[in-house]
Amino acid sequence: MNNTTDSPRIAVIPVAGRGTRWLPITRTVPKELLPVWKRTSASYAFEEAVNAGCNEIIFVISPDKEEVLHHFLQFDSSDLGPRYSQESFESLHTRVTIKSCIQHEPKGLGHAILCARNDVGDRPFSVLLPDEVLMQNGLKRIQAFTPAILLMEVPYAQRRNYGIVKASQQDSIKQDVFLIEDMIEKPEPPLAPSSLAITGRYTFTHEIFDELERQTPGLNGEIQLTDAMKRYNQHHPMHGILFHGKRHDVGQPLGLVTASLDFALKDPAVSQALRAYLTQLIQDTPSA
Ligand code: G1P
Repeated sequence: MNNTTDSPRIAVIPVAGRGTRWLPITRTVPKELLPVWKRTSASYAFEEAVNAGCNEIIFVISPDKEEVLHHFLQFDSSDLGPRYSQESFESLHTRVTIKSCIQHEPKGLGHAILCARNDVGDRPFSVLLPDEVLMQNGLKRIQAFTPAILLMEVPYAQRRNYGIVKASQQDSIKQDVFLIEDMIEKPEPPLAPSSLAITGRYTFTHEIFDELERQTPGLNGEIQLTDAMKRYNQHHPMHGILFHGKRHDVGQPLGLVTASLDFALKDPAVSQALRAYLTQLIQDTPSA
C-alpha cells in the first residue's frame, strides 16, 4: 500500500457525455452545468478533488462542451464549499490549475480517460465521475490505497446499472478494505458476482493507459473503463474501499432533486422555510 505522499495530485473529470437523458435541456445546456442547489452539478466532484489535495484538474470535454471548461476556468470560492469562502480568486488559481482535453468522438468512459494521457504522463491520478455527488469525501477514502476504487452496496435489481466487482475482505479489522479479484460492467443481476458496485471514484497508476489503448469495444460498443481495469488489476492489484456515506446520482432527474434538497435543507438561509413547505406539500399532495 502506498503512503499518502504518493497520493495522486491530478484529477481527471470526464464531462464529454451527450446527456441524452436530459433532453431537451441538454440541447443547449451541458448537464454538468445544471444546478444542484446554488452550484453547478459538476462543482461537487471538483470540490471533492480539491479537498482531497488535487492541484491539477483535467476536464475531458467534447467539442461542443466548451462552456463547461469556461465555467471552471473562472472558478472561485463560490464553486467550492464554505471552507474556501475567504480564499481569493488569485490564491485559489495559484493552488489549483484547470486543464482540458477533448474527446472528439463519444467512444465511452474508458476512451474519455485515455484522452487525458498526455496531460497525466506517468504520474498517478484520480478519476471522478461528476454524476455522483457524495455527501462525504469518497476520493480521500481511496487515495492512500492507490490503485483503488470506491465501492457501495447496491440492491439486486440495480446491479445492471453499475460495474460490479468480485472482492475479498483484506482482514477482519479493516472490514471496509477489499482486494478486487474480478469485475464486470453492468451485468444482468443473476450474473453479478456480488452486490458491490463501482462508485465513480478511482485512483490509478499510469499503466491503466496501456490497457485502455488495447481495449476493444465492450458493452454498447463503447471502450469501457471497467473492461480495461479488469486486465490492469491482474498486474496492479486494486483495492476496493466500501463507502458508507450518502450519495446522489445527479445523472438522474430524481437525484438532481434529492441532492438540491439535501443541500438546501443544510442552508440556514432557507432551511426552516423549506422544511415547513415540504411538510405541507407532502400532506397536501396525494401520492401519484
Ligand atoms: C460508469 C461506469 C460503471 C460505474 C458507474 C458509477 O457507468 O462505467 O462501472 O459503476 O459509472 O456511476 P455510467 O453510469 O457512466 O454508465
